[in-house]
Amino acid sequence: MMVIISKNYNEMSKRAAKLVIDEILKKPNLRLGCPTGQTPSGMYKELVKAYKEKKADFSKVHAYMLDEYYPIKKTSKNSYNYYLNDNFFNHVNIKKENINTINPESKTPKKECVNYEKKLRKNPVDIQILGVGVNGHIGFNEPNSNFNSKTRIVNLTESTIKQNSRFFKNKEQAPKQTITLGIETIMSAKKIILLASGKNKTEAIKHLINEKEDKSWPVTALRKHKNLIVIADKDAVSLLRQSN
Ligand code: GLP
Repeated sequence: MMVIISKNYNEMSKRAAKLVIDEILKKPNLRLGCPTGQTPSGMYKELVKAYKEKKADFSKVHAYMLDEYYPIKKTSKNSYNYYLNDNFFNHVNIKKENINTINPESKTPKKECVNYEKKLRKNPVDIQILGVGVNGHIGFNEPNSNFNSKTRIVNLTESTIKQNSRFFKNKEQAPKQTITLGIETIMSAKKIILLASGKNKTEAIKHLINEKEDKSWPVTALRKHKNLIVIADKDAVSLLRQSN
């Protein structure tokens, strides 16, 4: 595991974007796993800026969603499909046919999960970007998810529903289920870049860096990944032991 500590959110976002851009230069048809949330939005801004300045070309890049609420309208402002279009895809030259989405309106969600899993196993992503939940979830793999879990429908924990309800009118309107890549699916990525910013992520980062693998902190599954880069700002590492 490589840990890069940035002085603040902006620096973290710039570092992450630079890593992605460098990989695209090496491999123009890069397969990129795309998360949502507040954490990666600065990185997407940097990627869009690089595209506008002609420093990045997404014309051959393939993108894959990490997770999505279920059920939700794709056009809902709170859907992750909307987020990715609005923050990233609509502003760069990625081809529509190269954007691999999870359909949150599917009438056959189990089939949706099986097909998405198959797609990712056949062609694992080159880079999976990840954020982390306050409770250590990755994607929507909540505490006590199996480390060998696959793409599936999950029930969200009270804590995550509460965290995410800030985006909805009230807690009742916040979705209670999602479709997420499983932990094993995430681990099949060739490289993982995990981003963390802010004091509320420090407990999760401490578990990832200082503690053992522990199902109650899903992020610790990443300790076994051979090519993991953690980019965290100073606030997110404030609980780390000095020796690290
Ligand atoms: C959601 C997403 C995760 C994300 C997490 C943290 O639950 N499913 O993929 O990492 O939120 O979000 P934020 O970056 O807004 O703190």
